[in-house]
Amino acid sequence: LPSFYTLPSGDKIPSVALGVWRADPGHVGEAVKTALKAGYRHIDGAWIYGNEVEVGKAIRDSGVSRKDIWITSKLWNTFHAPEDVEPALDESLTRLGTNYLDLYLIHWPVAFKKGQGQEVDHDLTESPYPTWQKLEEMVQKGKVRNIGVSNFNIRRLQNLTANPLKYQPAVNQVELSYWNPQPELLKWAKSNDLLLEAYSPLGSQNRVKETLEVPEVKSIAKELDITPAQVIISWHVQRGTIVLPKSVTPSRVVENFHVVPLPQEAFDKLEEAAASHKPERSVNPDWGVDIWH
Ligand code: A2P
Repeated sequence: LPSFYTLPSGDKIPSVALGVWRADPGHVGEAVKTALKAGYRHIDGAWIYGNEVEVGKAIRDSGVSRKDIWITSKLWNTFHAPEDVEPALDESLTRLGTNYLDLYLIHWPVAFKKGQGQEVDHDLTESPYPTWQKLEEMVQKGKVRNIGVSNFNIRRLQNLTANPLKYQPAVNQVELSYWNPQPELLKWAKSNDLLLEAYSPLGSQNRVKETLEVPEVKSIAKELDITPAQVIISWHVQRGTIVLPKSVTPSRVVENFHVVPLPQEAFDKLEEAAASHKPERSVNPDWGVDIWH
């Protein structure tokens, strides 16, 4: 299985990352250090996760050189107005203690009106090009090396890329799991040179246990003498996506990094099982805008 993918910029993005959403303060630093020791070179974070200071400190303390680590952060909904983008990015850079990001994503296809609330700016939500142009400027300034989006569906991707972009979105980070495998989006992304990143790859908190008990997953794990989590994480990479398992448990952090190729028959069996039920999202915030349409 590929240990990295090459983006349009030529940068190589490692295929398995440590996700740090809901990794609580006091634990996330240890998880990052365990991950870097285990061989991870990719940490997927965001401003809204509220743990960038601890993540940054752990990275600096790890002894692994900054240039060898891929760091992703995300622009929160409150900061989509063009004049707010650079200050938001600067805050993430300061918190992380670095002077550039490898990847910066628009976290949601939803712009809040300026201020503290969650009132939606429908114009900027439907036409995010001004926000994107500012991200492009951040690339030109050297503050970020690659830019992308998160939680965009095909319509929203097409809507954004209909503009005369200097840089195409390099990735789209979305929920991908056994319960929500999104084969159409994956197919579309592949034919449009867009890499998908799988968040909540194990099923996100409440469904992880259920995912690891799926009969197909269990039987493949037994056949290959690996754990059910490793089956699922390997399946994601074999589908051609980046995978971002979250864990603050050291043994699981180590376990999740070991991906192996699944025999074609096992892969097909799992793909088919995942597609055979009605897709269900674990993550679907209600901001009074239909995110998925
Ligand atoms: P914890 O962080 O306490 O180790 P997802 O990446 O799909 O969002 O899933 C994250 C959840 O899955 C977390 O609750 C995490 O728990 C748990 N988890 C992560 N890796 C494993 C694993 N290898 N086996 C079992 N549970 C796991």
